[in-house]
Amino acid sequence: MRRMAPGAPTRLRTEMRPNPMGIGTPRPRFSWWVTDDRPGARQTAYHVQAAATEADLESSPLWDSGRVESGAQHLIYWGCEPLGSRQQVVWRVRTWDAAGEVSPWSELARFEVGLLYHEDWTAEWIAHPERDTSTSVPCPYVRREFSISGAVKRARLYATARGLMELRLNGRRVGNDELAPGWTDYHRRNQVMTYDVAEYLREGANCFGAMLGDGWYSGYLGFQNNRQVYGKEPSLLAQLEIELETGEKLRVATDRDWRVSTGAILAADLYHGESVDARLEPMGWDQAGFAAEGWRPVAVAARDGALLEPKRMAAVRAIQTLRPRSRTEPAPGVFIFDLGQNMVGRVRLRMRASAGETVVLRHGEMLQDDGSLYTANLRSARCTDTYVARGDAGGETYEPRFTFHGFRYVEVSGLANAPTVEDVTGVVLHNDLEVTGRFETSDPLINQLQSNIVWGQKGNFLEVPTDCPQRDERLGWTGDAQVFIRTACFNMDVAAFFEKWMADVRDAQTPDGVFHHVAPAIGNAWASSAWADAGVICPWTIFRCYGDKEILRENFEAMTRWVDYQHRESKDLVASHTGFGDWLAIDAPDPGRAPTPVRLISTAYFAWTARLLAAAARELGKAAEAQTYERLWERVRETFQNEWVTPNGRVVGNTQTGYLLALAFDLLPEAQRPVALAHLVSDIEGRGWKLSTGFVGTPLLCPVLTRFGRTDVAYRLLHQRAYPSWLYSVDQGATTIWERWNSYTKEGGFGDVGMNSFNHYAYGSVGEWMYATVLGVDLAAESPAFQSFVLRPEPGGELTWVKGSLDAPHGRIEAEWKREGHQVTFRATVPANSVATFRLPAGARECSLGTGSTFPLPAGRHEVTWTSDIGP
Ligand code: BGC
Repeated sequence: MRRMAPGAPTRLRTEMRPNPMGIGTPRPRFSWWVTDDRPGARQTAYHVQAAATEADLESSPLWDSGRVESGAQHLIYWGCEPLGSRQQVVWRVRTWDAAGEVSPWSELARFEVGLLYHEDWTAEWIAHPERDTSTSVPCPYVRREFSISGAVKRARLYATARGLMELRLNGRRVGNDELAPGWTDYHRRNQVMTYDVAEYLREGANCFGAMLGDGWYSGYLGFQNNRQVYGKEPSLLAQLEIELETGEKLRVATDRDWRVSTGAILAADLYHGESVDARLEPMGWDQAGFAAEGWRPVAVAARDGALLEPKRMAAVRAIQTLRPRSRTEPAPGVFIFDLGQNMVGRVRLRMRASAGETVVLRHGEMLQDDGSLYTANLRSARCTDTYVARGDAGGETYEPRFTFHGFRYVEVSGLANAPTVEDVTGVVLHNDLEVTGRFETSDPLINQLQSNIVWGQKGNFLEVPTDCPQRDERLGWTGDAQVFIRTACFNMDVAAFFEKWMADVRDAQTPDGVFHHVAPAIGNAWASSAWADAGVICPWTIFRCYGDKEILRENFEAMTRWVDYQHRESKDLVASHTGFGDWLAIDAPDPGRAPTPVRLISTAYFAWTARLLAAAARELGKAAEAQTYERLWERVRETFQNEWVTPNGRVVGNTQTGYLLALAFDLLPEAQRPVALAHLVSDIEGRGWKLSTGFVGTPLLCPVLTRFGRTDVAYRLLHQRAYPSWLYSVDQGATTIWERWNSYTKEGGFGDVGMNSFNHYAYGSVGEWMYATVLGVDLAAESPAFQSFVLRPEPGGELTWVKGSLDAPHGRIEAEWKREGHQVTFRATVPANSVATFRLPAGARECSLGTGSTFPLPAGRHEVTWTSDIGP
């Protein structure tokens, strides 16, 4: 039975997050999916109701939009008085279709405003007063008891740390966030976590405690023995606000009344791991009535000018667990467990041990030939957890809390009772981002590649987009993020994640406008093309994928300063800054540097960022700026041609990356494009259909080949199994994307240990092409956020079928095709209130939609068939 009215809207989001607790804006934006599978279904109007409680929705709403004649369903601004700190809101929405039929109300969505202003705070920073921090030292535990004289109506805990914190109330851990509050430049901004803690409290005596870890704040960070980047002592700022049924209010904030000591955690470090002696835990320290003898007063520091901001994105959480596939014993008493997947997180180990027995867990991504753990590529990071058992009669479980490791194998030694595979669990940690993309094909190798890309994203989307998760680095390398962001947007909803990271990128920008090569900043910034350009490319990409104009508004000034810097420092518009070149390209003369001239890369990016800035200005209605930067883009483009392109269309250096930049960034006159394309293809062919690109060129390869009509060559590269290629590492057993095309080879063993990560997502940037071209789901040039999008599948290569979907801001887009001989059948779902343009691939005949090459597809399910030249 077909419904005669739309269904209740689903997937309600506030600030692009499901039911966020503690948002940081007084004017949040609302989004929903229209539920209507009738062909051509549209939303013609909506009605949002928001109130403090469900009971108030009809009678005393905070905002009742009434019926608004509009098809908009994404990022609808809060429509009345700005909300205040602590405001609790429930909301719902209903929609009307084209025939004027109204849907039922949606289910309720909720959110709550966090503490927006400095005046909301009375808490002070508290820390241990006298640890000798010259080496890693025991983690401080802080506590304070308080009493509640009545039933609790509402309780909120607002907390942040410079360092890491685990909050405890009455002996229980608060919430399920890991490595909270996460990483920022703590001198500029601190992320505040907001928790509803009513259920943790009781009438009478209560205890509020916290364990603190060094984390990014005072632990090892950067390279080698770099420590205490932000400060020496981790500290806590927390405010527990309680409202009793009587209306009485109570506040327990960190201040001089707190006491501090240490416990079982003898050392905890992100790179090196954790060391725990469970016998030293002061049992009951986080409960009322504990005899806190020997606990000392805390050191107190006033709040400084650093921002206190409700955390903008979902925190890191334990997202999934993995079971070992096997156990080996390369040396007597030394057991290695294979989790079957290079993952990021830590191990939960169950054991039956006697008191004082010491178990050591070492982590590695690979094994040596003799079956022992390979750790040389971790550089100085020890990645070792040590646990001294309490000796509980019923057994005990250890899982570290203030560290994470990048590993597939864990080596467990020191236990008298040999651990079994049942005793070991891999706990996967990353920011709790919604999975939005699915992609599957007839080729298991390509499916493994897709899985490797997704695991690369999981492993490196831990607070900031990092280069790698295992060695003594794990930094927010801007170039890596910039090349991968488009792929990331397909796999997961990363809008809020990048909004937050862009704040880190802005905080790391120098006064003269240079975006740092890592954000948060570590060490000095120098202008590096393709890395610094992340400051422009990332906001632009998030805007394109999610339609979020706020990210453009928030970053516009910073983007402008970087483009102006490039302009100011250029000589006759040739960029004067250099950078890392086409990092890790093949045949590089000196490590990492490819023959693509570095200033060619800088000038190309200079042109491109000027162009994106002009486009951003246009989106924001800044006509004058749009014109200025449009002109700058045209002039730099001309400079690029004069400087780097020969009259007969060769790009200086004659590298794949040189041609790719020229073509991808529209730097060539129309007439020279086919020539450049021919040079590019002939270089690929000359190498036996292989690539030679590094970080800069690789993401452009397949998209450029497709854009200029050579998807056939892109498929050759995709299916290529010889070195260098994507499938080469798959054949070598990779379960993530590797830093180098040959980080490990079955014949040659391990690559250079100095730089050899087995979890580096940059080359995973081919993912965007797999979704956009192989599956065929792509953004439309003229409209962001996939409401109006393009379906342009290009069956090819050796694939006989492909299937996938994307949870876009307006609904779930589904696509699949299969090829039987020359006959192709394509099926797709266009979500309600969206419209697609179907583009027939080149060489297709007898299309079931009729003659022509593009066709509008309204909302609904569609099947298209055609006959293709491609095929066996
Ligand atoms: C990182 C990279 C980064 C590069 C820049 C490396 O150490 O791991 O991914 O982009 O340095 O040169």
